Parts: sequence; C-alpha cells; structure tokens
Amino acid sequence: MEIFKTKSALKAFLNPLKASGKKIALVPTMGALHNGHISLIDLAKESADIIICSIFVNPTQFTDPKDLEKYPRPIEHDLAMLNQAGCHGVFMPTVEEMYPQGADENWHIDLGNAEFLLEGAFRKGHYQGVTQIVKKLFDAVEPDVAMFGQKDFQQVLMIKNMVAYFNLPIILITCPIIREEDGLAMSSRNIHLTAIDRENSLVLSKSLQFVINNFEKLPLTELENRAKLFYQNLSGIDLDYFTIANGNTLEPAKSKNELNIIALVAAKVGSTRLIDNMIIR
Ligand code: PAF
Repeated sequence: MEIFKTKSALKAFLNPLKASGKKIALVPTMGALHNGHISLIDLAKESADIIICSIFVNPTQFTDPKDLEKYPRPIEHDLAMLNQAGCHGVFMPTVEEMYPQGADENWHIDLGNAEFLLEGAFRKGHYQGVTQIVKKLFDAVEPDVAMFGQKDFQQVLMIKNMVAYFNLPIILITCPIIREEDGLAMSSRNIHLTAIDRENSLVLSKSLQFVINNFEKLPLTELENRAKLFYQNLSGIDLDYFTIANGNTLEPAKSKNELNIIALVAAKVGSTRLIDNMIIR
C-alpha cells in the first residue's frame, strides 16, 4: 500500500494506471476508521481496480473548533486497517496541501434548500466545507467512482448536488450503514461515548426501527411523535431532531405515498453528537 502526502505524488502513481485502463475508486474519510469504512473499501473493489482512500480531517467542515481539535486521529491503526483491507493507496495531505491559500479561501456553491435543513440547521456552513474538500479530493484523484456511507445521508445528497453542479463524470456509490450487534451505527465519534452514553445511544436505532416496524400501521405524525417519546425522560440525551422526511428534499414527508421516505435522527448523547437514519422506501 502506497502513502501519498502530495497531489503530485498521487497523480504520478495514478496516471500510468489510468492510461492502462484501470478504474479508480476513491473512499474519502477523515480517518478514525471502523468496519463501516472497511465496508466502503470492500464495495469499492466491486466497481474499480485501484482503491485510493483519503484521510484528511477537513477544517472547513467543522463549525466548532473544539470538535475539530478532539477529532480522533489514530493514524497507525488506520493504516494497518487499510493495508489489511487491500487498499492500494492512501492520500494523507496536510492542510497546506489542500488549502494552499489558507483554509479560509472562498467557496460557495448552490446546494439547494436541503443544505439548510437538519444537520445544516445545526452546523451552519458544514456542507459548504464538505463539498469544498470533496471537490478538491475529486480533482486530486479524478476517480471513476467514489464511495460514501448512508449514515451521512444528507452529506451524500449534498455531494450528489455538487457533482451535478460541476457536471463531474464520477459515479457516486452509497453504501449501507454498518451497525454494531446491538444496533448502534458505527461512527468514528462512538469512541467518545462513556459506558452510560453507550447504553443510551441505542435509543437512536431503536426509535428508527420503531418507525420501520410500524410504518404501515400508524399515520406519519403519530409515528414521528411516538418515536420522539423514546427520548423523553432519558437523562444524558438531547434530541436535536427526529424526522420522517422525503429522501430527495429532506422536507418532512407529507404522505406515505411519496417515493423516497427516510427517518433521520440526531441527538447529543453525553457530550457526543450522533446521527443515524433508516430508509423506509
Ligand atoms: O464523511 C466524512 O468523513 C467527511 O465528511 C468527508 C466526506 C471525508 C469529507 O471530509
């Protein structure tokens, strides 16, 4: 497995491979890898010959500097996992390499109204930062396909909008959420959960599963209200939102007949903010 710190070294590796007809997949990450990330690598192998994983904790997508500072960076562990998973190359640039003019460089594109809903309402500017770095990573790798996890459902939607905005010839593949045995969605942030937080965190998947199990039986408003009841009287958990939404617009679903419906949740568990979702249809 090769490690690249610069775009030029990465391109020097990739160009001959591309010239010989190899398909390239990019798996963008911020490190602190878990089996959810490895599932992206495994799925990437089905669509491409060469798998590049990027590890870059992107400063422009953090709204809280403390969150950026405490983001886990277990780099040796990450590299061992990627090597074991059969990744061909890791792109680990510095902040200066990705933002030569400084991380406050200008970036703003129209991502549609969904940018401002849900996560966008709690983390102002977050998706501008995400699409800014993903565009830079796409420019550096010029992949045929790029893999993203469904756990960040809104992020996938925003990246799709960015790809459409620039008309990029990149196929985006969304990979299913990988869960712990008890239902908790895998996340790099789970490492911050205390034992009691870890127990409490199960309410996210349980409330989503309640909606899935009862979708045919109950009206939309009752489903949502009853899902929110799971969070009442639970100390140590603050619900940010629980919504049953249209999967294209992220506006609340108006009818069960809409084509794409998804339940999404975000909650602060202890001091850790977790998100999760389940696609209903
Ligand atoms: O999902 C993530 O880890 C990040 O938002 C991404 C897509 C790597 C951009 O920094």
